Amino acid sequence: MKRILLIVSGGIAAYKALELVRLASKAGLGVTAVLTKAGAEFVTPLSLQALTGEKIYQDLFSLTDDSEMGHIELSRAADLVVVAPASADILAKMTAGLADDLASTLLLATDKRVLVAPAMNVRMWQHPATETNIGTLKARGVLVVEPDEGPMACGEYGPGRLAEPPVILAGILAALNDGLLKGKHAIVTSGPTHEPIDPVRYIANRSSGKQGHAIAQALAALGARVTLVSGPVALPDPFGVELVKVETARQMQAAVQAALPADIAVCAAAVGDWRPQTEAEQKLKKDGSGATALSLTENPDILAGLSAPSPTRPKLVIGFAAETERLAEHAAAKRARKGCDWLVANNVGGTGIMGGDENEVLLLTADGAEPWARMNKQAVAEKLAAKIGAYFE
Ligand code: CTP
Repeated sequence: MKRILLIVSGGIAAYKALELVRLASKAGLGVTAVLTKAGAEFVTPLSLQALTGEKIYQDLFSLTDDSEMGHIELSRAADLVVVAPASADILAKMTAGLADDLASTLLLATDKRVLVAPAMNVRMWQHPATETNIGTLKARGVLVVEPDEGPMACGEYGPGRLAEPPVILAGILAALNDGLLKGKHAIVTSGPTHEPIDPVRYIANRSSGKQGHAIAQALAALGARVTLVSGPVALPDPFGVELVKVETARQMQAAVQAALPADIAVCAAAVGDWRPQTEAEQKLKKDGSGATALSLTENPDILAGLSAPSPTRPKLVIGFAAETERLAEHAAAKRARKGCDWLVANNVGGTGIMGGDENEVLLLTADGAEPWARMNKQAVAEKLAAKIGAYFE
């Protein structure tokens, strides 16, 4: 059993550490928890103990703790040290090498990899001191699960909110990294594309990139090396994947081709089928006639290109189909037309799926069609990644 040493430092996000412990245990990890003094203001040792099923460590100079397991030993008994939430204070201590309590002493004494999931007020996160500290820690090899952007407990809005526990867990699993897909390279496309009309306008679609990003993260959590080629999205960069940011379909195709060879390709992007024939150099003006026409030309089909027989064809190519009617029929036809191995079909007709958090899919493989119950996109990603893992087993 792999074991993490989880350090819970202070901050309102500390309550999310409980959910992280629950998910980590469910994923089969042992969890030894250390609670800082500030952390204990937000979660109780008892609730952590109930979830880890183990003793919680809090004191540097505890006679009883030391007779059971000295702090040096504690820092070495785990496969990975995780700080979640990581306050501005503990990050500063780590950077400076301070060791004035149990958590900071463990972090200085450990010879294991360390992963931090920062959480703090947006101004603290954006303060040059914190930025410098994060930069230094990254340069030392500390893994950082970037915070989310959103409304904060303090009433402000911005980056600094603790990443969601499933995202932190994915980071932990990727760091422990001996999953089913170790040694495999996966290319994942995600998000919409923007097809420019003129310098200020473009054609786009409603894709949020949530499903594609979640798949990239889930594949990385199984140990795959992941290249995520993404159109413009408003999502935090997923942890532990190589992210290539593009805008247009043609840029996406070039980035995908440049990332080959790969064992797996998952085309979850909602690639614009069409682009304006020409991109106007100057902003288009109204001509007074009350109407205008855009000439469109077809974009390259990235999925079909990847699926075509070639020496660099990935062993498993997976496409997506967004349909609004006759799902099974259209999806089967699309799988045949594109030449991909699997096709994940979803019904996007008026159900709030495109851009939303949930998905209801039908998976088509050579063995037939498999309907999946409606679940969140994270769960779809994990189920798909597990299926891909099983395929390569
Ligand atoms: N796709 C792609 N490149 C394109 C268009 C689509 O890689 N230029 C991929 C998508 O990432 C997705 C799949 O193809 O995996 C489905 O694309 P979709 O646009 O839904 O299918 P179409 O072939 O365009 O069919 P239709 O518009 O008739 O539904």
